[in-house]
Amino acid sequence: MKTVQSLKQCREIVATWRKEGASIGFVPTMGALHDAHLSLVRQSLRDGHKTIVSVFVNPKQFGPNEDYTTYPRVLDADAELLRGAGVHLLFAPTVEEMYPAGFATHVHVGGLTQFLCGATRSGHFEGVATVVTKLLNQVQADAAYFGEKDWQQLQVIKRLTADLDIATRIIGVPIMREDDGLALSSRNRYLNANDRAKAPLLNITLRSLAEDILAGGDIAALLKTAAHGLNENGFAVDYLEFADARLLSPLRNLDKSGRLFVAARIGGARLIDNWPVN
Ligand code: PAF
Repeated sequence: MKTVQSLKQCREIVATWRKEGASIGFVPTMGALHDAHLSLVRQSLRDGHKTIVSVFVNPKQFGPNEDYTTYPRVLDADAELLRGAGVHLLFAPTVEEMYPAGFATHVHVGGLTQFLCGATRSGHFEGVATVVTKLLNQVQADAAYFGEKDWQQLQVIKRLTADLDIATRIIGVPIMREDDGLALSSRNRYLNANDRAKAPLLNITLRSLAEDILAGGDIAALLKTAAHGLNENGFAVDYLEFADARLLSPLRNLDKSGRLFVAARIGGARLIDNWPVN
């Protein structure tokens, strides 16, 4: 596995592969890699691609009171994991490489970004859309892989690639969970033992809500009671919603497009999860 920091080197390697007729798979990450990232890598390798992983902690997608400065940066450990997984290229650009002096362009995806994390993390999706547009243009992969844990992010990226005629195919990969249901996340490492023990309640709540909604319960009332239950158990709920899986707009009737979404803080971590209702 090669590791490069500059866009020029990354482009040179991609150009060589293209000449050789290789197809290219891309997994954008912010590092602090765990098995869910590796599942994206494995999917790209299974699909027969030369596989590139980027590690870049993108300052533009963190709010002023969020964890940009403390976000785990463990590039050597990440590189070790990626080498072991059979990745071909690690692209780890610096902030100056991605956002040189004078940088002034931002990508705003309308509509679906006004809901859920878009409503609670101001500017977050503009930061994500901007960096992902840049990364997709830089790498020019055939396919790019994103985890379904960040379901709304995946819809935002599908929207922007469709709207901006970016040819890379966007592929969602199912959530990986611990045995107790907790979705894998780099932020799980912020949990102390006590909070880690409580964290699976997020997924348990979504599963039981899905059953109650399917059984015909009053959706608004069910959401309210479930959010109250989480708050009583030490979470601070940002949102708990039943929403259209593609548009992310709230639904109050059972609809086959519906999906459950939650974001809640516990201890030092803000955790998100989502679950189908069908
Ligand atoms: O999901 C992530 O890790 C990030 O939001 C992404 C897609 C790498 C953009 O910085």
